Amino acid sequence: MQLRDNGLRFSPVTIVLHWVVAILLFSIIGLGIAIAQTGDDVRKLEWIHVQNLLGLFVLLVSTYRFWARVTSYHPLPLGTPNPVEVIASRSVAAALALAMVLLPLAAWLSRCAAGEIVGLPGGWVIPAPFGPSAQAHRVFAFLFNLGATAFLGGLALHIFGALKNHLVLKNDALKRMLGKHVEL
Ligand code: HEM
Repeated sequence: MQLRDNGLRFSPVTIVLHWVVAILLFSIIGLGIAIAQTGDDVRKLEWIHVQNLLGLFVLLVSTYRFWARVTSYHPLPLGTPNPVEVIASRSVAAALALAMVLLPLAAWLSRCAAGEIVGLPGGWVIPAPFGPSAQAHRVFAFLFNLGATAFLGGLALHIFGALKNHLVLKNDALKRMLGKHVEL
């Protein structure tokens, strides 16, 4: 099995991890909305623990993925896009991969600095590297909010690019990311 991307195609590992991270991310966002809306404190805590676990998976998978992204060739683009578009879309993709490492870390550090226990399902706890600190909390919360806002903007661009390729340019860029073998 091809383990790493090359100039001709994404590896199956890249494709599976891309969609695993996307599903985890949308689950975390969905849980966040549910947590904000429920009035049941016990359920809220259970969902926060599940959210923390999904965030931990995102961090672990994305650490590998970012390393793989920056140390492998990126498959050639499909069609004849102009070079600026190629550079922009690849930079956004790499930034998204990096954000999926940095945002879970910032969320964890921000909660530790706020003195919160970062719990997981089954009574497990992710240990805090330092004690509560109002100043550190302000810094990490600011970095998280800034990063999350930039990330959502980048993700919107990324999805827009994928849909434009699929619906307007009618090439196989999205199908290639869904595993279709495309000859270049
Ligand atoms: C509905 C959501 C998404 C769609 C439709 C989508 C679509 C795509 C497509 C079509 C490509 C291939 C681009 C090419 O041919 O060069 C791609 C690559 C990529 N996407 Fe997404 N994507 C989505 C969500 C995400 C999310 C949430 C992330 C966040 C990490 C992400 C990060 C990346 C990265 C880093 C690449 C480059 C290949 C890799 O290393 O995985 N995408 N995406």
